[in-house]
Amino acid sequence: MDQLERVKAEFTRQADQFAAARAVTDAQLTKRFVEAVGAAAQGVILDVACGPGIVSAALAVRAREVIALDITPEMLRKARQRCADAGLDNVTFREGSATDLPFAEGSVDGVVTRLSLHHFPEPRRALDEMFRVLRSGGTFVFADIVSSEQPEESALHNAIEVLRDPSHVRMLPAAELASLVAAAGFTIETETTWDQSREFEEWSGIVDDPERIGPLRTVVRALAGACQHAGIGLSLADGGIVFCHRWHLIVARKSRT
Ligand SMILES: C[S@@+](CC[C@H](N)C(=O)[O-])C[C@H]1O[C@@H](n2cnc3c(N)ncnc32)[C@H](O)[C@@H]1O
Repeated sequence: MDQLERVKAEFTRQADQFAAARAVTDAQLTKRFVEAVGAAAQGVILDVACGPGIVSAALAVRAREVIALDITPEMLRKARQRCADAGLDNVTFREGSATDLPFAEGSVDGVVTRLSLHHFPEPRRALDEMFRVLRSGGTFVFADIVSSEQPEESALHNAIEVLRDPSHVRMLPAAELASLVAAAGFTIETETTWDQSREFEEWSGIVDDPERIGPLRTVVRALAGACQHAGIGLSLADGGIVFCHRWHLIVARKSRT
């Protein structure tokens, strides 16, 4: 199956659980992201791979306009509903791919994207597109979960993620991520990292597929028991499996030419 079809299939099935998941709707997490966008949040902001519109809705409170783009129609439906429920009328919704953005060069004041890059087989291509549509002097805010800088840990972590969600491609180590953002032309202003505690049952429940998760639970429990922490602190606590997702947030600018 082609990657975009895989993403659409996966996020159509996950839409209800994802839109309500504590780990992504957490108010503090959203606040941290919106604060990183800062003053740029007052113009026209493009939210790439917006999913159920958690970030789009939060930004729309201050922005002149938010354009929420996603490849999965069911996610856009959720985003539309969230914004309508919040009484927001300055969000427009576009179906499209991050690697072929349907916008003119330099047409938006800010580009944001959260939890998306690890679904892109060609992350550089998506970053090039985000750079292209951003106006000169505009702000780019990016956040994703990263993997260990240690290649074997990174590979093990990513294997676990792919087994849970086949539309996952790769969570990059933070250093590789920053290089990629800089290589696309952005000037990085700040980088922030923090850890988010996760429980296997909550994390795996989002994909809502017991047939997939049963064997994965067996493998991950065995890894945790054998002190194979996969760079994410995989361990057993009170009979359950726990780990940490490390977030990396980058605030960057498209320098004026
Ligand atoms: C993990 S969700 C993140 C949603 C949202 N950004 C958030 O942080 O809540 C990933 C989203 O990326 C979308 N996506 C994946 N690949 C995409 C692509 N190439 N173009 C546009 N959207 C894509 C999926 O449809 C899904 O809604």
